[in-house]
Amino acid sequence: MSEKVLVTREIPEAGLRPLEGFDVTVLSERPPERGELLEAVRGASGILATLTEQVDAELMNAAGEDLKVVANLAVGYDNVDLEAARERGVVVTNTPDVLDETTADTAFMLLLAAARRLGEGERIVRSGKWEAWGPKMLTGPDVWGKTLGVVGFGRIAQAMARRASGFGMEVLYTARSRKEDAENELGARYVELDELLRTSDFVSLHTPLTEETTHLIGAGELEKMKPGAVLVNTSRGPVIDEGALADALADGRIFAAGLDVYEEEPTVHPKLLELENVVLAPHIGSASIETRDKMAVLAAENISAVLRGEEPKTPV
Ligand code: GLV
Repeated sequence: MSEKVLVTREIPEAGLRPLEGFDVTVLSERPPERGELLEAVRGASGILATLTEQVDAELMNAAGEDLKVVANLAVGYDNVDLEAARERGVVVTNTPDVLDETTADTAFMLLLAAARRLGEGERIVRSGKWEAWGPKMLTGPDVWGKTLGVVGFGRIAQAMARRASGFGMEVLYTARSRKEDAENELGARYVELDELLRTSDFVSLHTPLTEETTHLIGAGELEKMKPGAVLVNTSRGPVIDEGALADALADGRIFAAGLDVYEEEPTVHPKLLELENVVLAPHIGSASIETRDKMAVLAAENISAVLRGEEPKTPV
């Protein structure tokens, strides 16, 4: 009998092809209820999960002894309990590399939209309140030629730095360790977080979510940012203290923010929803047609590899 694979959400068709030959159940388009998930996972050898599912000890126990692999359809894997997986000998994989350029596009899109007030402009046009072209209407800071500070210097941050270079920007970065090869290749300069916050016109966050990066940007850090700076987050919501950000935006301490991720998705801090100077995207960092296909295929290939006794391409 073929091994059972649970796919927790509907994924691009391409991702089902590597799973041919397995007994595949695709749960639902929407995030499954926890009870439904615990029920559906029983007897699964592989789980293709997304970041809307908490893959913890309870879920792995519910799957049972056959569980060998959890393939997360994301580069981030803060929704997976790695320790619980290790204890059970379950391989965990993610989808790095394939989404770097697309996610950097999203970060740069948010940066431009926040600086140049695209969201506000859209709202004015759609509400029928646009009366005329105006010499002072919706002006925002230039992006080109300014300084971008990237926090974290992994592949997505480096792809962001390349985009910034194309806009004639100076690039600063901070990370746990210096990456001199990438620094030289991209013309980026390493600085401590404090200096990055004090000197960047634009700050873009690209760290994984860990204990150390939870609320990495809070009231104190927002206070250090240049007045009029713009903050962009495409990493994970809890890296920013959302309440503190809402206050800094409301006070006009910083000019604007562009957010793709939130502390309690899909809930957004009510104060942010009231503000004009924040662009709010619904966690679409990697959501290009091509990239989502590649992520689905990679996740499925990882499952297939482990269940056939081979090494997966991208273990965590
Ligand atoms: C999406 O947020 C991802 O981690 O891939």
